Amino acid sequence: MAMIEARGLTKAYRSKSGPVHALTGLDLTVPEGTVKALLGPNGSGKTTTVKMLTTLERPDEGSAAIAGIDVLADPQAVRRTIGVSGQYAAVDENLTGFENLDMIGRLYHLGAKVSRDRARELIDVFDLTAAGDRPVKGFSGGMRRRIDLAGALVTNPRVLFLDEPTTGLDPRSRLALWEIITSLVAGGTTVLLTTQYLEEADRLADDISVIDEGRVIAEGTADQLKAQVGGHRLVVALVDEARAAQALEILGRHGDGHPVLGTDGRQVEVAVTDGPTALQRSLADLGAAGIELHDAGMRRPTLDDVFLQLTGRKAVEDADDDDPAAPTDKKKTKHKTTNDTTEEARR
Ligand SMILES: Nc1ncnc2c1ncn2[C@@H]1O[C@H](COP(=O)(O)OP(=O)(O)OP(=O)(O)O)[C@@H](O)[C@H]1O
Ligand SMILES: [Mg+2]
Repeated sequence: MAMIEARGLTKAYRSKSGPVHALTGLDLTVPEGTVKALLGPNGSGKTTTVKMLTTLERPDEGSAAIAGIDVLADPQAVRRTIGVSGQYAAVDENLTGFENLDMIGRLYHLGAKVSRDRARELIDVFDLTAAGDRPVKGFSGGMRRRIDLAGALVTNPRVLFLDEPTTGLDPRSRLALWEIITSLVAGGTTVLLTTQYLEEADRLADDISVIDEGRVIAEGTADQLKAQVGGHRLVVALVDEARAAQALEILGRHGDGHPVLGTDGRQVEVAVTDGPTALQRSLADLGAAGIELHDAGMRRPTLDDVFLQLTGRKAVEDADDDDPAAPTDKKKTKHKTTNDTTEEARR
């Protein structure tokens, strides 16, 4: 069963300069016991989506259900089913970490003993033992984040919404949170999290929805998304930028996509599926052509690469095509971008 289901969510906010279209027809389906990552840049509509699904705000159009419960028809029942950790920690500054968690338990009628035990347990899990009995106003940013995340777990919700849960956490806390999420999901919890990091989505999510301008522009596993931009990127840094056009030609021969020249005029890269072979052959040909390199290697695609690929097409469509979903346009744009770059390099 889908634990989270959204169809055609639309939301516009009013602003002085006119309406801001935060959501423009967003669809989501998250099966029970899985993790969905909403991946998108600043302002793409991630927080707005979380607000709609967690009954904090109402969409202008569209529908959503959590565990089969309609969020518009029965928001109370939805609230009893979910846990939410917003992008900005919502904690009572004057209470200690322990008191914050204990209070949540009591507000949800867990009873005094259960609330206390659960608060202690979560303080431990989130590694806040030393700070748990201090008022939150003395907490660091990362500590606040952790106490807020713990708050979302007090009631053992079946569905958990985490808005950029690891932003601001140090690497150790981030790993710890990833482990907590993994074990919750193993126990059957359904999680929707937002993130700006492909790596995080990669590590945690069963399925990723890439969102931009308020709607889903791509969906799939991390591997599927990366495959769209090529499995790996082969990158070489040239000593002499005058050789860029030749290097582009050589990488183009061994890569899968169209090679791109970096803004510095020296870095040439191309998407590859069989990375090691492409690297060996490119280096051999670059060497034979007498092109000197500062650096050469492979890297995994980043969110930037995914975006460049997915949203790069938009600029073209805005001008001469009004169907942003048309898959054939992807190639068209890619050619355009690449040819432009290549032309520049040749000049
Ligand atoms: N209360 C509001 N009033 C006016 N505009 C808003 C409001 N909330 C969000 N927006 C606008 O809606 C768009 C989507 O915002 P949203 O907060 O959902 O983005 P986001 O993907 O969460 O971004 P970030 O990565 O920065 O958290 C943005 O253009 C934002 O400025
Ligand atoms: Mg946000």
